[in-house]
Amino acid sequence: MMRLWTILLVLLALKASAQSLRFQEQYPGVWKGIFGKPDKYTLLSAAAPTPQVETLERLQSVDFPLPKMEVHAELIDGKTYLRFPLQKNEQIYGLGLNFQTVHQRGKILNLHVDHYGGKDNGRTHAPVPFYISSRGYGVLINSAQYLTYYVGTGVRKDAKVPAEVKDRNTDKSWNSRPYSDAVEVYVSAEGAEVYVFAGVNALDAIKRYNLFCGGGTLPPKWGLGFTQRVQKLYTADDVIKEAAEFEEHGFPLDFIGLEPGWQSKAYPCSFEWDAGRFPDPAALVKKLAEKGVRLNLWTNPYVSPDAPISKSIEPFTGSHTVWNGTVPDLYHPDAKRIVAEQLKRSQINIGISGYKIDEVDGYDYYLWPDMAKFPSGISGVQMRQTYGVLAQRLTDSLYRQQNKRTFGLVRASNAGANNMPYVIYNDYYSHQDFITALVNSGFCGVLWTPEVRGSKTGEEWLRRFQTVVFSPMAMINAWSSGTKPWSFPEVADKVKYYAQLRMELMPYLYSEFAKYHFEGTPPFRAMVLEEGFQGQTNASLSNQNLETNPYLEAVNREVKDQYMCGEYLLVAPLFTGESTRKVLLPKGNWYDFYSGRYVGNGEEIVTKPEDDRIPVYVKDGGIIPMTTARLHAPAAGEKVNLIIRHYGEKEGVYNLYDDDGVSFDYEKGAYSWRSIQIKRSAGGKLVREISAASKNKPDNFGTVRFEWMGQ
Ligand code: GAL
Repeated sequence: MMRLWTILLVLLALKASAQSLRFQEQYPGVWKGIFGKPDKYTLLSAAAPTPQVETLERLQSVDFPLPKMEVHAELIDGKTYLRFPLQKNEQIYGLGLNFQTVHQRGKILNLHVDHYGGKDNGRTHAPVPFYISSRGYGVLINSAQYLTYYVGTGVRKDAKVPAEVKDRNTDKSWNSRPYSDAVEVYVSAEGAEVYVFAGVNALDAIKRYNLFCGGGTLPPKWGLGFTQRVQKLYTADDVIKEAAEFEEHGFPLDFIGLEPGWQSKAYPCSFEWDAGRFPDPAALVKKLAEKGVRLNLWTNPYVSPDAPISKSIEPFTGSHTVWNGTVPDLYHPDAKRIVAEQLKRSQINIGISGYKIDEVDGYDYYLWPDMAKFPSGISGVQMRQTYGVLAQRLTDSLYRQQNKRTFGLVRASNAGANNMPYVIYNDYYSHQDFITALVNSGFCGVLWTPEVRGSKTGEEWLRRFQTVVFSPMAMINAWSSGTKPWSFPEVADKVKYYAQLRMELMPYLYSEFAKYHFEGTPPFRAMVLEEGFQGQTNASLSNQNLETNPYLEAVNREVKDQYMCGEYLLVAPLFTGESTRKVLLPKGNWYDFYSGRYVGNGEEIVTKPEDDRIPVYVKDGGIIPMTTARLHAPAAGEKVNLIIRHYGEKEGVYNLYDDDGVSFDYEKGAYSWRSIQIKRSAGGKLVREISAASKNKPDNFGTVRFEWMGQ
């Protein structure tokens, strides 16, 4: 009798703690659901994005994308268990900056800010708890705790779609990972805040997520030029010489990055110039500016006992140190103020253009442990999950105060920082995996650069260089290697061609970033987000028994080595040792970027490019606004001439963006969109048109020339 009562009581308690989430629509297609008592401090409190309400409200309204009753939430052992249903033919993307896989279904991920250790296990520079379904919706869990995702791995007794039991002795189709019908998440908190983003397709849901998080960042024009990071102990004279060498070689250069040696002490840092190597930093900045070159500074946030702010910041630092430096509590107003004053006084006020914020991802052995305490009350874990975001926000705000855009580098980020002007990088160096990271960056609202450092051969140098040109930040990081773009004479001309191409593509790239900001479309993104691509399955897989691999139905071929760069360009990198490769083209006609030649339609092609080129293709009707090769990005108000390429047979439209390129005035409407239209006349000829810039709006384009590619 007693036992029966106990069982009944346990059952009642279970029922009380299990609930379905109640969702409320916040904007068309964006719902928020709350379960239990979520933490006060979340990813979104760290990033504090301002949703682009007007744009969100203009989007097509869509229904809640999941069966609500099947979204489950429950408190277990003081933690929140969330479950979201999965259909058989559904693939899952995202969940942070992964380097080796695009398909996340079937994986277990512990989302944890960390350096990338060579495995996609959830520990990465931006472990963003946002996933996107191939069925056109996304789910964000707004928690700054560690999160464990079982992405279609757990098999429950009460599964809606039960997995079949098989006998391994006799049944060849037995599988060690039976079919699972849910994404299950374990959140280390007594509640959770969940956002669901719907869309007419996966890209549409991503756009909503990006707009909700403030829209993507719009870099200054110079941020899209070329950047060289110099060796760590360079002096001011070395830097001046470096800039002059770029000019002599005719290589573009918009900003130089100084590595640890600009500071008098590093690891931990003094945040002060080394007086020996840099006797007059203001004069250096000025001299470089006259040459059209800006300076970016490396730093990590850990404070040396020799830093001028060491004493004043001490009360506002965490309980543990990093390399014996104190850790500023970047959520505490006093710590923020002290760091801000130091950066402004010593660097920003003399014209430093931005920062490379290093070591905010950590590596367990040198970062603070999880039980570390911070004066603002944020736990060691929450601080770790958001430290990179807090550092981005603080520095960005200092530039905003001066109405100047910055563009820099950071080694950790998280959800909500979509509008922060920072690009993620790391110390890992697999070229292939760098491209997969670029593909994945578009699923989680971050930017990633496949930076070039050193190379064993000229061939590797060229291959790496070509891809960094088709990425958010075209950079050589020579902090250790001392390499220059021309370091491999056998490929120096080819490298120069691509450095110049980057500058020629500036009007296109800038417009694509504007679309990231104003519409939420990631400028670098996976092929599966491209119309006409999703349906493509690997023919050799289609006849197999689904029970052998329960995910086959969802696993259309994983494509992780080609990607879209903006609206019209498909980039398919070649890696060292390759002179030929396969490329999967979405439906529609595609054309070679260089020659305009037709290459295929909705098929797999094999390409063997001439002249060691990187394969790049353009969609039918593609319009690519370019300019002439130049050494520096256009300054504010400087006019550039346009060369507008049209590819293929189809009519096309392109929205060309422009503003002053340096300030935040675009947020107050000081920008223009010009419409480029290619139409067929009654006689069948292609004719072109470009609308004028709106009155009293920025108008920085000079002459316009059209090029019909391949005709
Ligand atoms: C590393 C960073 C490198 C370089 C180096 C300088 O942490 O990833 O890019 O900046 O520090 O010490």
